[in-house]
Amino acid sequence: MTITQEKTLAAKVRSDFPILHQEVHGKPLIYLDNAATSQKPKAVLDALRHYYEQDNSNVHRGAHTLSARATDAYEASRDKVAHFINAASRQEIVFTRNASEAVNLVAYSWGLNNLQPGDEIILSVMEHHSNIVPWHIIAQRTGAVFKYVQLNETEEFDLEHFKSLISDKTKLVSVVHVSNTLGCINPVEEVIKIAHQYGAKVLIDACQSVPHMPIDVQVMDCDWLVASGHKMCAPTGIGFLYGKLDLLLAMPPFMGGGEMISEVFLDHSTYGDLPHKFEAGTPAIAEAIALGVAVDYLASLGMDKIHAYEEELTAYLFQQLCAIPNLKIYGPQPTLEGKGRAALASFNVAGINASDLSTLLDQEGVAIRAGNHCTQPLHRVLGVPGTARASLYFYNTKEEIDAFIVALKETIDFFRSVMD
Ligand code: ALA
Repeated sequence: MTITQEKTLAAKVRSDFPILHQEVHGKPLIYLDNAATSQKPKAVLDALRHYYEQDNSNVHRGAHTLSARATDAYEASRDKVAHFINAASRQEIVFTRNASEAVNLVAYSWGLNNLQPGDEIILSVMEHHSNIVPWHIIAQRTGAVFKYVQLNETEEFDLEHFKSLISDKTKLVSVVHVSNTLGCINPVEEVIKIAHQYGAKVLIDACQSVPHMPIDVQVMDCDWLVASGHKMCAPTGIGFLYGKLDLLLAMPPFMGGGEMISEVFLDHSTYGDLPHKFEAGTPAIAEAIALGVAVDYLASLGMDKIHAYEEELTAYLFQQLCAIPNLKIYGPQPTLEGKGRAALASFNVAGINASDLSTLLDQEGVAIRAGNHCTQPLHRVLGVPGTARASLYFYNTKEEIDAFIVALKETIDFFRSVMD
């Protein structure tokens, strides 16, 4: 482990995050719930304030200076996002409220119009509810049916099982890149290649990968990819859909309203060009601009450096957690260098309820999540109602992991003493 690298990145960034420098219940805050939402650097907070103090105006509508400024900043953010994931065109980036809305956009626009009775949709059992429920709704209306990729023996995406499920009947494969519960990094490039051989389209839920590692949609060759701004240092209320240009061109609008039209008559309307066709109504302007600032911030740190640093933290976290008796971590083991999985660990301690654990850890200033993490079907497969989850980001330190482990051991000891 290169401790120098860890110190350098954490030391460089921690002062950028005002929220991290506070006490909770009299203890220094240790924020380990980054898979639920990340914290925001000062640059992003400043961008929100600057927008409302200096530029607040509606976009794409006014000829006046403020509207021009707001429009320029909003559209510049689209360019930044397109560049960040290496989209071939800025028209391939549609701003949405969040990743859930982006999945719904594809489900209602493409799914409703392209799926027929008996067509097969392949999902995996580890999908977030946002990548299951929209497809349930569309399947009920189209008669499409589901197949689910199971876990293999290391609790990862079972590629062999996927190969056995796919056929000419498969019209859509919609899978998560990095599981928010198992932490596994799924072999999406291989999945996409195979799916395309059968003529199926592929949507990738990249909510837990775009914030943590370099992503290149052209290399990946996905048909659509969705992500949330708030998990990548941007505000809530903004996410995006990437879609291949020819697909987005062929898809009808998801919602009607202002901004998305070309002309409106009393009996019909014509639609605007991409990406505006999919952005009905006044968008989340400040949030979209702040997403661009977040992207600048992440890019200035370097996604490869963020990923490498998180691997170091992963190795350290696992080394410590694995030494605790009767603690089971779900998903694959990382290598000694922390490779092969994301910087999060969902776990249970025998005989202790995960929610009770997280409530007591909060008293020690440690914020982790407990529950099903919006992956109920996966928890049924794992045979547990919930898990506790510690999830890291590039501003977390080894010292914070140490403090978390001390608090966790004390909490476990407390529960054991009460149970004895
Ligand atoms: N999907 C988010 C999580 O994993 C909210 O916590």
